[in-house]
Amino acid sequence: MSNAMPSTDAAAMPPRPFRAPAPVPHSEPLSFFGFIRTATRNPIEIWGTRAFKEPYVVGKWLGVPNIVLNEPRAVRHVHVENPKNYVMQPLRQRLLRPLLRDGLLTAEGQLWRRTRKAIAPVFTPRHIAGFTEPMAARCENAAERLRGMAGQTVDISHETTLLTFDILQATLFSDDIESEPNEFARSTAQFLGSMGRVDPLDLLGAPDFLPRIRRLRGRKSMLYFRSMIAETIVKRQRQMEKDPNGVPPDLLTLLLKADGLSRDEIEDNIITFIGAGHETTARSLAWTFYLLSQAPDELRKVEEEIDRVLPTLDHPSQYLDALPRTRAVFEESMRLYPPAASLNRTALRPDRIGDLEIPAGSTVLVMPWLIHRHEMLWDRPDHFIPDRFMPENREKLDRYQYLPFGVGPRICIGASFALQEAVIALAILMRSLRFEFAGSKQPSVIQRITIQPEDGLPMTIRER
Ligand code: HEM
Repeated sequence: MSNAMPSTDAAAMPPRPFRAPAPVPHSEPLSFFGFIRTATRNPIEIWGTRAFKEPYVVGKWLGVPNIVLNEPRAVRHVHVENPKNYVMQPLRQRLLRPLLRDGLLTAEGQLWRRTRKAIAPVFTPRHIAGFTEPMAARCENAAERLRGMAGQTVDISHETTLLTFDILQATLFSDDIESEPNEFARSTAQFLGSMGRVDPLDLLGAPDFLPRIRRLRGRKSMLYFRSMIAETIVKRQRQMEKDPNGVPPDLLTLLLKADGLSRDEIEDNIITFIGAGHETTARSLAWTFYLLSQAPDELRKVEEEIDRVLPTLDHPSQYLDALPRTRAVFEESMRLYPPAASLNRTALRPDRIGDLEIPAGSTVLVMPWLIHRHEMLWDRPDHFIPDRFMPENREKLDRYQYLPFGVGPRICIGASFALQEAVIALAILMRSLRFEFAGSKQPSVIQRITIQPEDGLPMTIRER
């Protein structure tokens, strides 16, 4: 009989699989003011233990029924079978519409249908494959810059945001912006900063004419930001008139060639792509590096795949299909930290899902944050287990239990763009670099539009 004790080294290793940090759900309901305080500071902390265990949770806020759906069958009903009955929730629209106006994310009804139809051809697989070269080139630049900083500790979340912003600039405008690049980056950051915060007045359903202090501050920077985009569009239009074949094949050119979009609508959609399309991917990349730094076995498997497969590929358009483990790690990171935590809708007419009544006017929430960590749906829901997303296991997942990009007619139009970008970024960065977590405690997770680390993710850069 062996009486071997675990070695101190083994005891010091992080537990395997790694349990991904998250706010601890409260077991008692929050008071009225506790709710406002929590929802303003960090909305994901309002959820109690029941929300992670039960098929649905029904509550009321200011007299309006609030229904959280956790069952895949119910998600399918709302988002696929009867989506016409579920419009965007007014609070979400109040926050986003002043910034994104008639862009696809905030458009509704006939305007949304027309815009989606016009923009869908911009995101075809052929066009997205066409973006792999600028994506890879920007990732190579980032890898070189980070190699030059080896040994230093950086906020990896900031670094991934710089990278995805650079990729967005390259794929949207081919760097041809009517502004000095740093000025554009600063202005974008200010604009995005004004997007994230929920104002207590919004939660109380206060009318729109009451000024929201936080948002007033953002107004000037928003107008400046818009004027820069408008000038960039005019410049490109002139170039296209002069020489239609001489313009770069980027998203701006594709939008200008799309049928049925006015110039204002193109502006709104460019701003929407900037708002929806880079911070999301950046956060997931940063969480992926963090999770891998805590799970040495998983890190080793991804590095092995990248080292073995990358030298056999001739073009970055092959990466997504050829690197299933790299993709699985990114998908598991989006499960644990879905950048978009919540899909918020309001029921127009009464509806019924099984024995659950949905009164007209109810707020109906489908929350990746809850569904992705739900005890009914996942084995060890809080643990980092990328194998769940390996091709041989994927079929075991219900289509409606994993929703990082939403589902149904309003599914993210940039999903393939984002997945491709993420796998290219992971492959190119991890080929020569490794990131070690340098925080003194586990990161706190906060929702500010996206799910993010409250105080950044300090990581030390190492060359491999
Ligand atoms: C990891 C990256 C991303 C995540 C997690 C993400 C997530 C989402 C989600 C959950 C929705 C649906 C919202 C709802 O139903 O209420 C959505 C919609 C949308 N996303 Fe993304 N997104 C990502 C990247 C991108 C990119 C790269 C772009 C554009 C370049 C983009 C543009 C949009 C647009 C325009 C919509 C609105 C679609 C519609 O309503 O028809 N997203 N995204």
